[in-house]
Amino acid sequence: MAKPESTDPPLIELRNVTKTYGGGVLSRDSTVALDDVSLTVRGDTPQIVSVVGESGSGKTTLASLLMGFIAPTSGTILYEGQDVSSLSGPRMREFRRDVQAVFQDPFSVFNPFYKVDHVLTVPIRKFRLARSRSDRHDLMVNALETVGLRPDETLGRYPHQLSGGQRQRVTVARALMLRPKLIVADEPVSMVDASLRATILESLRTVNQTLNVPILYITHDLGTAYHVSDHILVMYRGTIVEAGDVETVITAPKHPYTQLLINSIPWPDPDRRWGQEIATRSEQVTVPEGHGGCRFAERCPAVMAKCVENPPPPYLPAADHAAACFLYDDRPELPKEELSRMLTLVPSGSSAQQGEGVPR
Ligand SMILES: Nc1ncnc2c1ncn2[C@@H]1O[C@H](COP(=O)(O)OP(=O)(O)OP(=O)(O)O)[C@@H](O)[C@H]1O
Ligand SMILES: [Mg+2]
Repeated sequence: MAKPESTDPPLIELRNVTKTYGGGVLSRDSTVALDDVSLTVRGDTPQIVSVVGESGSGKTTLASLLMGFIAPTSGTILYEGQDVSSLSGPRMREFRRDVQAVFQDPFSVFNPFYKVDHVLTVPIRKFRLARSRSDRHDLMVNALETVGLRPDETLGRYPHQLSGGQRQRVTVARALMLRPKLIVADEPVSMVDASLRATILESLRTVNQTLNVPILYITHDLGTAYHVSDHILVMYRGTIVEAGDVETVITAPKHPYTQLLINSIPWPDPDRRWGQEIATRSEQVTVPEGHGGCRFAERCPAVMAKCVENPPPPYLPAADHAAACFLYDDRPELPKEELSRMLTLVPSGSSAQQGEGVPR
């Protein structure tokens, strides 16, 4: 059941955002990394939403735009209703504090010459989070404990004296000390070995549930996305092709790209059938180069003549489940802007509770 929409402006909103790298929009060697994407991230639903898609599909570009690290080529990004490109001074600081990043390579935020404490004390000073030394110490200890680290084994050490997984959890602790309204975690576990992945994802889950912080979890790994998230967005070449409740999307994918993606990975339980039959071609279609239709047409096993004419809008093959594919054009169409609704639905599971949270 959907939570009544709040009338406050959403935390972050992307409106028709396109990001092109290199050259001009018409240049031959430019890459359209994100193509006319609109979505809303509300800060008041503590969900974990995964963004999945193959390498180069635009996931990091989406994350960097959301955090204001790069500017869109066209379209608008709003932070609490205000254009990010116009933010300055205290509003910019607020934005920087509200949206925290956890990156792929935890080493990149550590300076090898400073103790691990440095990574935590810098934001405490910058955002004036503590009034005294003991305040500062308590803040660090609490944050480390929340992510399952023992402060006495972490503080006072140098980055190389911690494992990759511990370093990554320190960066999660750093993010949550700021009481952000959103954590964007871009491939946070791809640099650590499998045994540590679960622990780090567990700490993200804990942060999500105990502090009610929504998390955007970006990954090319469908397995972890399935285990950790409530909702999922599937990207293909800069567009969102499918979105919905994670259980529904993974067990009954609708878009042929998602179907291929899911069927191509070995799932741990051989008795459980994942995905569905892959939709297959019923018409003989030539896909001309440079056509303006669906970006997946070249690879699609179910391509139809209309797929190369126009890009498909998102349809709703089932409640809370959208797929941008003409196979479902007999179903209701979801206005493109509303794909964002998929990010704001309250999941039916336990993470739907709106606890008190921790005061900022
Ligand atoms: N700074 C840049 N300059 C030029 N092209 C770029 C730049 N950053 C990304 N791209 C291109 O934009 C496209 C999307 O890249 P992006 O990094 O967003 O993909 P991704 O989904 O995060 O991939 P991965 O899973 O490999 O991290 C790719 O084709 C990439 O080569
Ligand atoms: Mg990336």
